[in-house]
Amino acid sequence: QAIYLKDYQVPAYLIDETELHFSLGEDHTEVRSVLKMRRNPESTASSAALELHGHESLELCRLAIDGRELGAGDYRREDETLGIDQVPEAFTLECLTRIRPRDNTALEGLYLSDGMYCTQCEAEGFRRITFYLDRPDVMSVFTTTVEADAARYPVLLSNGNPVARGSDEDKGRHWVTWQDPFPKPAYLFALVAGDLAHIERPYSTASGREVMLRIYAERKDLDKLDHAMDSLVKAMRWDEEVYGREYDLDIYMIVAVDFFNMGAMENKGLNIFNTSCVLASPETTTDGAFQRVEGVVAHEYFHNWSGNRVTCRDWFQLSLKEGFTVFRDAEFSADMNSRTVKRVEDVTLLRTAQFAEDAGPMAHPVRPASFIEISNFYTLTVYEKGAEVVRMIHTLLGPELFRKGSDLYFERHDGQAVTTDDFVRAMEEVSGRDLTQFRRWYDQAGTPRLEVSDDYDADSGRYRLHLAQSCPATPGQEQKLPFHIPVTLGLLGPDGRDLILDNGDTSCVLELTDSSQTFTFEGIAARPVPSLLRGFSAPVKLQYPLDRQTLVFLMSHDSDGFNRWDAGQRLAIDVIGELMAQHNAGEPMRLDAALTDAFAAVLDDESLDPAMVAKVLTLPSEAYLSELADCIDVDAIHAARQFAKKALAQALAERFERRYRALAPQQAYAPDAAQVARRSLRNLCLSYLVALETPEYLALAQAQYDSADNMTDRQSALSLIAHSGATDAAAAVLDDFYRRYADQTLVVNQWLSVQAGDPRPGALDRVKELMQHEAFDLRNPNKVRSLISVFCNLNAVNFHAADGSGYDFLAERIIDMNRRNPQMASRLLTPLTRWRKYDAARQALMQSQLRRILDSGELSKDVYEVVSKSLA
Ligand code: ARG
Ligand code: ZN
Repeated sequence: QAIYLKDYQVPAYLIDETELHFSLGEDHTEVRSVLKMRRNPESTASSAALELHGHESLELCRLAIDGRELGAGDYRREDETLGIDQVPEAFTLECLTRIRPRDNTALEGLYLSDGMYCTQCEAEGFRRITFYLDRPDVMSVFTTTVEADAARYPVLLSNGNPVARGSDEDKGRHWVTWQDPFPKPAYLFALVAGDLAHIERPYSTASGREVMLRIYAERKDLDKLDHAMDSLVKAMRWDEEVYGREYDLDIYMIVAVDFFNMGAMENKGLNIFNTSCVLASPETTTDGAFQRVEGVVAHEYFHNWSGNRVTCRDWFQLSLKEGFTVFRDAEFSADMNSRTVKRVEDVTLLRTAQFAEDAGPMAHPVRPASFIEISNFYTLTVYEKGAEVVRMIHTLLGPELFRKGSDLYFERHDGQAVTTDDFVRAMEEVSGRDLTQFRRWYDQAGTPRLEVSDDYDADSGRYRLHLAQSCPATPGQEQKLPFHIPVTLGLLGPDGRDLILDNGDTSCVLELTDSSQTFTFEGIAARPVPSLLRGFSAPVKLQYPLDRQTLVFLMSHDSDGFNRWDAGQRLAIDVIGELMAQHNAGEPMRLDAALTDAFAAVLDDESLDPAMVAKVLTLPSEAYLSELADCIDVDAIHAARQFAKKALAQALAERFERRYRALAPQQAYAPDAAQVARRSLRNLCLSYLVALETPEYLALAQAQYDSADNMTDRQSALSLIAHSGATDAAAAVLDDFYRRYADQTLVVNQWLSVQAGDPRPGALDRVKELMQHEAFDLRNPNKVRSLISVFCNLNAVNFHAADGSGYDFLAERIIDMNRRNPQMASRLLTPLTRWRKYDAARQALMQSQLRRILDSGELSKDVYEVVSKSLA
């Protein structure tokens, strides 16, 4: 059932031209295709047989080769393929299929989202539209005609440029023909039809080409598209300046759809976006969501080069486009906003969720060696760790050589479908470096451990750092070879200032390639404190024990903003660990004043960027504390973290209140970096104050809720009140919020999330009630994520209730979702796959729910792969 990278073979046939005609109907859609095909000269296959991909749901109406219709005996249909034993060297294949977008609940292929037709073809959705060679190394020039009812579907879109249109007034139908001159694989095909409104803006590229940018949405959302348009223009400019990449078609379109399995999709010239990643307005959208829109718009735009012009040879190479593009969008966001804040956010995600993936049963290398269902490999490992791997190349080569390497890569492979090896080779060639060992980052799964110790000899002024690496076993990979790890390092003198190192700089990059190595520094006047892994220069778990005093020292002096933040996190983790031990010993918990003092100093320092202050003062999440634990003690983590929060609030209430008041808005809302920074710190201050649960501070939150002119402030206040012990106020504010925003789908989704994330008892019952609410819809992935995923992933105390009720609930949802939408079902499984990290009783409960799912009947490949690997 599994597919292996080692079995890769070039396609036996190629498709030079693809002509498609869609006739969209209420009951079904007819798809006519005319494919100009020929034998691949590079294929060594001996037979003249043709195997096309085609989903079992395709109704085949007619199949012809060079105009000669084939009878039922001339081809074989199997589950996912259609085989023809004998075809000519070159021929035209014509095919007529019938599909039913209305019944498509999987949201792959062509489906309806709120009365609008749209497609999602990556990775293998095109085979649900027609029979084809649905693999990324088959690239073809597409001409697509979309024909539909003119009144219901006035807007008809596909990839490329519109070249013809017409109508049949009698039948009330019209059509548009689109031509995409750039050869592309089928996964980049897109079609949209609906009654859509749009905004547009002309753009001229660096070399003076005129392009029209359009963003389409339902008419009611027309007022929420400007931010995405601004973001798109910034991204286009940035890619011209930083990578020398320009846009290539006459028109670039984005369409917002409400039903979408993922965030967005980079179809050539016609991106399709989840509404949650494109719509934004101050009244309905938080600062975080504004930034997410900017990042995702840029990500999809950047794919036009890293993904579309140069694409993947096969799906094992997915990180070729995703890792690189995530790296590109992260650098873009860092340039648009605060670089350090962006890095802190990305590393937090990596260390919380990707490290957990690496430690679980679905652990896989950035370039997986096998899979059962490729949809299961759109993972944090392929995306986020893949981006870290590209970042390490950037660190090793430096920005100039990295740019040379990317230029060579794009030039050499334009119009091709290539591998991660091709990418690394371009980087090797421009730099003259040998990255053979570095390539292990693509092949070996697991998070390496980096152990550090040091010694200092005052007489000789010699300081030595001993670095050792190891990597735990992962499924199918018992032994790992040493990685090539760039360790960016600085040394702090006793006065807290950086020493100047041999390279004349305050930082240098140590390259660890052996399992252990010693690095020596001469002429050091006093024992330094090392600042290791600056900017998180490698995706590893650093083990270098530091006492609390030294952590405080780094927190206040390290010239690397990321490491200053990280020192604070390590201090908090250490202190919370102590509280957990006290909690479990039945002793009263007592917070170490070292943390309080450190927080006070940061709060008092008005010279710091408020956004970074907010990051430093944010305690590590329960999810990250869980990832760090060998055996997750859900209740102790929650109790200790809550206690720490409250104790800090008690000790620093005056300061929090002072800064809260000083950060009050001075101007009308704008989601710019400076304002975002102020709001993030102000709302963090409020969260500490509300933790005290005094009527005074609850009233402060209520006042903020009532008077807010933007969603960021209103929603922060909402969740603080809703999760407080003030049950009447909580119920009232939730009611009010729903009434205000009942017609704003994305805001209502936030309302669902706030309730699903309520750590107080009774949350599961509330979630079950909400599943019956008019605001909920099991067919809409955003709603499922807002309610069910938030409960199962962000509400640990309730989801992991000792009686197993949370697990039982999730298993039921998955069994149900498996039939409707396999991709969603499979994603819901994640928290259950982590069962080995819990105590024996919870392990047994979680395993039994996994077995229940396995035994529940016919499983999709998506769910089967994750469940079976989890139980293996
Ligand atoms: N390529 C898209 C992006 O990263 C994601 C598509 C995900 N599709 C899927 N079937 N998992 O922007
Ligand atoms: Zn992507």
